[in-house]
Amino acid sequence: MTLRVLHVASELYPLLKTGGLADVTAALPAALIEQGADARLLLPGFPSVAAGLENLRPVARLERTFGAPEATLELGRLPGSELPVYMIRADAFYARAGNPYLDDQHVPYGDNAQRFALLGWTAAQIARRLDPGWTPAIVQAHDWHAGLAPAYLRAAEREHGAGHGASARSIFTIHNLAYQGIFPARQFDGLGLPRDFLHMNGVEFYGQLSFLKAGLFYADKITTVSPTYAREIQTVAQGGGLEGLLRERTHDLVGILNGVDYGVWSPAGDAAIAAKYSATRMSGKLRCKSALQTRMKLAVRHDALVFGVVSRLTEQKGLDLLLAALPEIVARGGQLVVLGTGDPSLEQGYARAARQHPDAVAVEFGFDETLAHEIVAGADVMAVPSRFEPCGLTQLYALAYGALPLVHCVGGLADTVVDASLENLADGLATGFVFSRFEPEALTAAIRRAFALHARSRDWRETRARAMRQDFGWAASAQRYMTLYRELAG
Ligand code: ADP
Ligand code: GLC
Repeated sequence: MTLRVLHVASELYPLLKTGGLADVTAALPAALIEQGADARLLLPGFPSVAAGLENLRPVARLERTFGAPEATLELGRLPGSELPVYMIRADAFYARAGNPYLDDQHVPYGDNAQRFALLGWTAAQIARRLDPGWTPAIVQAHDWHAGLAPAYLRAAEREHGAGHGASARSIFTIHNLAYQGIFPARQFDGLGLPRDFLHMNGVEFYGQLSFLKAGLFYADKITTVSPTYAREIQTVAQGGGLEGLLRERTHDLVGILNGVDYGVWSPAGDAAIAAKYSATRMSGKLRCKSALQTRMKLAVRHDALVFGVVSRLTEQKGLDLLLAALPEIVARGGQLVVLGTGDPSLEQGYARAARQHPDAVAVEFGFDETLAHEIVAGADVMAVPSRFEPCGLTQLYALAYGALPLVHCVGGLADTVVDASLENLADGLATGFVFSRFEPEALTAAIRRAFALHARSRDWRETRARAMRQDFGWAASAQRYMTLYRELAG
């Protein structure tokens, strides 16, 4: 029998994206369909989602609305894709311009608990035949936004009994433990969950209520997006207060690496870049580099080693450390291009560096999908010096484009990049530059390693070709999810 899987999330590339989650929710269900699954997605009806889906038709009126005047479930399709997408239309909750989670002042919306409770609750309803035409065996909830889905499933199972009506198994996927969906405990009453769920063994978290913990506690299985991060989050240092629960559930927790959608991220077919290229025809990369230098108003120099950054500017991404190491890049005749948005103090720091070194440092603040491709294509090195990184997609895109990733040895970065040490070069393993201690000296040493390798042009070319040959396609990861689904669905 075909395995029916409902993915529940809040973002979807190309309609709505604030980070890697959107890339995953677009590519993973499609990869599962390739593996023979019958996968669908459920999203809140944010403006770009409602406008971007085609053939939307109503499926059901939602009985519970969490305070919105009305809410309906609709089903549509992403243009050019086979993936069916359910959307919750509740304009009072979702029809707001701008960021899906934060208001213009970067403050979470006051009714986020209700907005995302509706998402989790609707997922559980779909699992209980809300759409007579399609009922999933597995519900996979992504990040805190969808964290209540496993809790509502458990509540419904208890109320109706597991044998009556459909009852799906649930998976909660951690893309980032740093975002926990914490709300005041008094908001619990409005959620319609059983009273006893507000408990240490439940959704309660140090006197408050946590959507992330709800997912971790009530899901049948937990996944996260790399094997190393799966281990790291079971430690005090990286567990965000949830390490105890994660350790208790260690046998239900598995790290499955994200993949790359090479239909979107491949230099041989990328319409956004100045010239296409591939591992065997590299001349286009140089054209991309000149085009990037020109666009960013840097000195157009072939010999300059160009470092690129495409990132959310948050504490997580370690760009304060890169700022501290920037003099090393400039002193050695390198250049740095930064595209990012977020923390105002980081933006100021990089803007200042660009004013100081107009030929060598260029920055653009904002979210720009095309420029992101141009940077990865034009750069020689992509820097991802994150403090922590659940998986990271940028370094995987960088490998595909022959922009050697320079990364901190954590999470998915540690699982995907091999340092250009002498022994790794000798054994034909190197694909980038990896530093271990999160300190300016360690990052600076990795930057020096990049310059040293660049000076040995044959080694550089070989390493770059090896990077481009790495296969991080979704097929292998989708197979791992399929195995997990089968295990769960019995
Ligand atoms: P995270 O999800 O933590 O932000 P990932 O590396 O998994 O990190 O994914 C980041 C995704 O967001 C990539 O697709 C990257 O290209 C994109 N991205 C990040 N910042 C920007 C930006 N300012 N403009 C365009 N794309 C961006
Ligand atoms: C999160 C993580 C990132 C991961 C992405 C997709 O945003 O920060 O490391 O790649 O989710 O899973």
